[in-house]
Amino acid sequence: MRIASARLVLGPLIFFALGFAALGLVSCGTWSGSVALPPRIEGANFVGNQACYNCHTNHTRVFPSSAHGRLHLPGAGMPEQVGCESCHGAGSRHIAVGGGVGRFILNPGRDASACYRCHIEVHAEFNLPQHHPLPEGKMNCVQCHDPHGRDIMKPSGGPAMARLNESCAGCHREQTKPVVYIHEAMREGCTACHQPHGSIHPKMLVERDNNLCLKCHAQVAPTGVANFLVIGSTPHSPRVMQGSCWSAGCHSAVHGSNIDPRLRY
Ligand code: HEC
Ligand code: HEC
Ligand code: HEC
Ligand code: HEC
Ligand code: HEC
Ligand code: HEC
Ligand code: HEC
Repeated sequence: MRIASARLVLGPLIFFALGFAALGLVSCGTWSGSVALPPRIEGANFVGNQACYNCHTNHTRVFPSSAHGRLHLPGAGMPEQVGCESCHGAGSRHIAVGGGVGRFILNPGRDASACYRCHIEVHAEFNLPQHHPLPEGKMNCVQCHDPHGRDIMKPSGGPAMARLNESCAGCHREQTKPVVYIHEAMREGCTACHQPHGSIHPKMLVERDNNLCLKCHAQVAPTGVANFLVIGSTPHSPRVMQGSCWSAGCHSAVHGSNIDPRLRY
């Protein structure tokens, strides 16, 4: 079904751009046609979402509320555009044999290549030097994204969770355990400082230097005092010369501290 929203307009544009990126990546392969082509299932045809309803009632019922259920992509070459089959492949043979695990259907929970067909930039991010070990086969998209439900930013099959931080907390207890002095930045989510897929910076940070902190903590030069900087009402001139805010032996408890409100240890 088509629903009028900005996303529907945006989708094809982004898609067009992604298509070109894809051609660049696979220019020497046997690639032909549109990047939106769903995974191939030998001898199967597209049957549309309703054909899945009887056996996968819950998946089919929640899907229209998901990010992908609301997209329309001309050129995807299938009945419902971003429907079940754009990730799982054409379903006619799966249905003809009465369904079943591994029977003429793909499960992208084990193999992200179905997602990379459209999310070429995400593929590139996972190839950056610092990344979550997904290319190594130790993780998968669905540990952070629910592909069918209303909130794609929560782990698949997980309990109802708030966005972002909670999905990280499942694996990173050290950074998310309760502390006496929490760094307020944590309320904006881990992604205020970390790129969740991959980054060129150590620890998957969004910036490698003090700019990471200065985007929220303004650096002010008091009038009349040359070369003198103040951050958070404390003079910082000599300190910012020593290294990054968290590595120069200063705010090393960057996520929060049990001892020091200034996050020094
Ligand atoms: C955006 C891609 C995408 C779309 C669209 C999609 N799925 Fe899935 N599906 C997945 C992924 C990823 C998994 C693996 C989930 C996991 O391992 O937790 C999955 C798993 C499944 C499973 C196996 C059981 C499970 O939950 O692990 C069924 C059944 C299924 N999907 C049916 C559907 C149906 C029916 C639709 C359409 C109404 C649909 N899917 C649309 C990505 C998608
Ligand atoms: C006749 C019933 C039936 C229909 C119709 C059906 N399936 Fe299935 N499907 C099953 C059964 C049974 C399983 C195995 C148990 C499970 O995972 O629920 C299965 C499993 C799956 C899996 C997991 C496969 C795996 O290897 O892990 C996916 C994905 C899936 N179906 C997608 C679909 C999609 C998409 C459609 C619609 C195009 C569809 N199914 C239509 C019965 C059906
Ligand atoms: C047929 C193409 C297609 C496939 C396959 C696909 N996506 Fe998407 N997805 C899109 C488009 C288009 C958007 C909207 C534009 C964007 O945010 O990139 C989107 C959006 C998203 C978003 C952001 C939603 C938001 O609210 O910001 C996530 C997360 C996502 N996809 C994850 C996945 C995962 C995980 C898979 C594989 C299981 C997958 N996608 C498979 C096309 C696809
Ligand atoms: C470690 C958790 C994690 C994993 C694993 C993960 N993502 Fe994400 N992803 C996120 C978070 C968090 C965001 C939101 C980023 C933001 O808001 O800045 C996001 C955003 C996205 C978006 C929308 C914005 C963008 O960056 O384009 C897409 C599309 C997406 N992810 C696809 C995927 C796909 C495909 C996979 C598997 C190949 C995947 N993600 C694996 C956590 C993850
Ligand atoms: C399913 C488990 C899982 C989830 C969920 C998860 N991570 Fe990770 N994370 C890992 C693993 C595994 C590593 C690699 C650890 C290693 O190589 O020592 C890692 C590494 C990292 C690192 C780099 C650590 C280093 O030493 O370089 C950061 C930063 C990070 N994760 C942040 C996040 C954020 C932010 C989220 C939520 C968007 C998140 N993680 C969600 C498992 C997870
Ligand atoms: C204010 C910015 C900021 C926020 C918000 C933030 N981090 Fe970090 N994180 C950092 C910095 C800076 C480092 C590098 C610390 C170092 O090198 O000593 C780091 C390091 C890490 C590491 C690697 C730890 C190690 O010992 O190697 C993990 C894992 C991590 N963060 C997870 C998270 C998670 C999960 C969240 C959200 C709950 C989060 N971070 C929120 C700034 C932040
Ligand atoms: C997303 C915005 C944001 C980012 C990025 C951020 N902070 Fe914060 N930080 C805050 C907020 C909000 C507070 C609480 C209000 C305040 O004291 O300014 C805070 C408080 C602090 C405090 C306690 C100040 C006091 O006097 O109590 C320190 C120390 C601190 N941050 C250091 C850092 C460091 C180091 C970085 C970079 C690794 C950083 N912050 C990045 C938002 C941020």
